[in-house]
Amino acid sequence: MSSSHLYPPPEAAVKGAYVSGIEAYNKLCAEAEADYEGFWARHARDTVTWKKPFTKVLNESGAPFFKWFEDGTLNVSYNCLDRNVERGLGDKTAIIFEADDGKVTKVSYKQLLAQTSQLANALKARGIKKGDRVVIYMSMSVEGVVAMQACARIGATHSVVFGGFSAQSLRDRIEDAGAVAVITADEQLRGGKQLPLKAIVDEALALGGCDSIKNVIVYKRTGGNIAWTAGRDEWLHDVVAGQSTTCEPEWVEAEHPLFLLYTSGSTGKPKGVQHSTGGYLLHAALTTKWTFDLRPDDVFWCTADIGWVTGHTYIAYGPLALGGTEIVFEGVPTYPDAGRFWKMIQDHKVSIFYTAPTAIRSLIKAAEANAAVHPKSYDLKSLRILGSVGEPINPAAWEWYHQHVGGGRCPIVDTFWQTETGGHMITPLPGATTLVPGSCTLPFPGIMAAVVDETGKEVPWGQGGILVVKRPWPSMIRTIWGDPERFKKSYYPEDFKGKYYLAGDGAIRDEKTGYFTITGRIDDVLNVSGHRMGTMEIESALVAHTELVAEAAVVGRPDDTTGEAICAFVVLKRPRPTGDEAKRIAKELRDWVGKEIGPIAKPKDIRFGDNLPKTRSGKIMRRLLRSVAKGETITQDTSTLENPAILDQLSQSN
Ligand code: PRX
Repeated sequence: MSSSHLYPPPEAAVKGAYVSGIEAYNKLCAEAEADYEGFWARHARDTVTWKKPFTKVLNESGAPFFKWFEDGTLNVSYNCLDRNVERGLGDKTAIIFEADDGKVTKVSYKQLLAQTSQLANALKARGIKKGDRVVIYMSMSVEGVVAMQACARIGATHSVVFGGFSAQSLRDRIEDAGAVAVITADEQLRGGKQLPLKAIVDEALALGGCDSIKNVIVYKRTGGNIAWTAGRDEWLHDVVAGQSTTCEPEWVEAEHPLFLLYTSGSTGKPKGVQHSTGGYLLHAALTTKWTFDLRPDDVFWCTADIGWVTGHTYIAYGPLALGGTEIVFEGVPTYPDAGRFWKMIQDHKVSIFYTAPTAIRSLIKAAEANAAVHPKSYDLKSLRILGSVGEPINPAAWEWYHQHVGGGRCPIVDTFWQTETGGHMITPLPGATTLVPGSCTLPFPGIMAAVVDETGKEVPWGQGGILVVKRPWPSMIRTIWGDPERFKKSYYPEDFKGKYYLAGDGAIRDEKTGYFTITGRIDDVLNVSGHRMGTMEIESALVAHTELVAEAAVVGRPDDTTGEAICAFVVLKRPRPTGDEAKRIAKELRDWVGKEIGPIAKPKDIRFGDNLPKTRSGKIMRRLLRSVAKGETITQDTSTLENPAILDQLSQSN
């Protein structure tokens, strides 16, 4: 929930901002309201360089499969690289890469363009072409960004899989996308540890169903021992050696799929969110410009991983499209100690810093325990704007971030958006919006967000409801790869008369200001440390342990550090275990889920029962399980339960 403190934009943030003052914000919103297509067309022409200019703006004839700028052609990599070199920014630093061990490498726009072109040529030489899908399973690296840009350059659609996902998850994504190649690294370095990547690719491909894969390209990061399949595997340094440093971009239609990114929904199977080229790039660039007010001298740092949408829009594309200088960080916030972020801000004179509430909360704990890693022990004067993303930020964490990291002078942009939205949807603009801790404030200009009831009718301010977007916007999800029906059902369901985009979150608007506060997901999706997890996905993983598990139900419960924690209720195929045996089996199941999905999906809490609380018709009562998980006394009516006694049993943790 939001607090009642108001923070008007400081004079220094208003002065010279791209959107300066609330009047400027209101004017943009009014322009979008008065001429929606004209508004987006104007910014699409000003922000993006088109090979062939578009003449059509929005095509709604196939709704909800909307098309934007459909007869225009462009190339994202041209917009992010060549365009900056042509503008005289060739020698400007595009990326400051800081490795896990602290080693720093700077890459200029000219160099980034050359590296991207070489890899693009190498991909082409292997027969990879426009429309092919390429899976990228990489750690945070310049090479990871280059791989994404190289795909964009030749019109191949990339699908980045977060390096923390398991072989099984990777296999499922490769198969669903029908990918022709994987770009990976031998290993990744995180927190001083060498973690496998190539070995997981090998395991994924050996699981079967990946016959479409012809090439595996491996970036040598650590030189660790890896297996090699001749004819399929090649080193990145070998494939680019001798390739030309120029490569004519493939000019693609605006609607051409730039990337797929798999995310969790309310059913078991992750969905391949498909994004466009033109509309996506426009929003990536425009939000980077207005929300972060990114200016030529800024040093921008988004701490997300390129495996998530935040790393796509605000590392691989947005800041580069504007010719910015950005940090790419390989490591973790707590290595070698929990002062790492603050030290890096100090060392690189970071001016815009964008991170997740979970990271802030864990760094607060560390700073309170040890003054040496408190932000006050570092010089953070270079900062001018702070950002938050991925989950609600609680007012206490907001205040700490504002005071101790931002020195009380830096506006915090609490950006609400989703994998599906491509970029910010509801967010303050730093030189315009009065901030309220815990509220993501107002829609980005041109985004028609609203809070409605079950029938799709707008509810009065002050009343909670369902968050929707009333009009299509350029960077929205185009479809779910290979499953257009699921796209329609998930985001434009019939009971909403297929009218509005359904975000899957609840929201409430402030009675006086109309500011939005996100109240959390209204479906079976959890948000753990800003990572999105489907409860059904975890349940499927648990019951896949056919030897042990008869039935499982997964719910979330609030957690001080991770926002939400995963709590699993499990019925075994053997008598309910207790004591050490329960601990041992809980560990086995946790590791099992880690192997099936990835370590991020491991339940924090596993409780065993002889059964699950069910209605007489056999439906699991998740509402009750949520209360049990929270440790609440059950006050709800349990008279419809088949087996009320089960609640006591499930209340006992291991
Ligand atoms: O529940 C909302 C939450 O994260 C969900 C989207 O997750 P994902 O697709 O993984 O994208 C995360 C990065 C954009 C949303 O449905 N969420 C995201 N940002 C916020 C948020 N909840 C509250 N406040 C936010 N600023």
